[in-house]
Amino acid sequence: MIKIAPSILAADFSRLGEEVKRAERGGADYVHIDVMDGLFVPNITLGPLVIAALRPHTDLPFDVHLMIQRPGRYVKEFAEAGANIMTIHLEAEEEPAETLAAIRDHGSRPGLAIKPNTTLEAAKSLLRDLDLLLVMTVEPGFGGQAFMSEVLPKVEEAREFLDEEGLPIELEVDGGIDVVTAGMAARAGARVIVAGTGVYDGRVGSNIAKIRKSAEDGLESPP
Ligand code: DX5
Ligand code: ZN
Repeated sequence: MIKIAPSILAADFSRLGEEVKRAERGGADYVHIDVMDGLFVPNITLGPLVIAALRPHTDLPFDVHLMIQRPGRYVKEFAEAGANIMTIHLEAEEEPAETLAAIRDHGSRPGLAIKPNTTLEAAKSLLRDLDLLLVMTVEPGFGGQAFMSEVLPKVEEAREFLDEEGLPIELEVDGGIDVVTAGMAARAGARVIVAGTGVYDGRVGSNIAKIRKSAEDGLESPP
């Protein structure tokens, strides 16, 4: 019911292969990989070369979160590097529908992310082309920020809309997720939970288990 996607942004970058394995051994469902270009967000992280280098280290799907301007330019590179899910930002692309179609054509599953101030309405016309909708619960760019609970009504709105329309899209949240906020996000309707600091700060396996338990408890007490 709930998928946990540890973000390697909070892992030790000098030994990423081992960090990805720790997530797998700890029971993760996806590996969340944050790509930042210093333009769409102020921070710079990694690109297709690093993702390709990590690919042999795990069988878990790579959930690649592209925080880059005009991601359509790099669909082929990220698909070839091994991105199973490729999520672009609505705010980063003039013609997101074309890029989402290109992602599918290249054999990856298309995802769309919206920043905290972007409405669900702005994304609605694209939902039919999607496998995953990512509702950001922090401003993208950095790990370790505080969860923005003011975004929860948008998660609820998305859950309601997807259920009403019968759209089989994974609803993901990302940013500031810990044992407490995971429950809040799942209660609001999230089913894929990204956590960086919350997973990698301490024992990965027990952190994943605690976040999963919190989210599953949240699921059982809807708003
Ligand atoms: C933020 C990234 C997140 C980040 C989450 O721009 O998209 O995936 O790694 O980190 P935490 O869980 O520490 O907020
Ligand atoms: Zn992310």
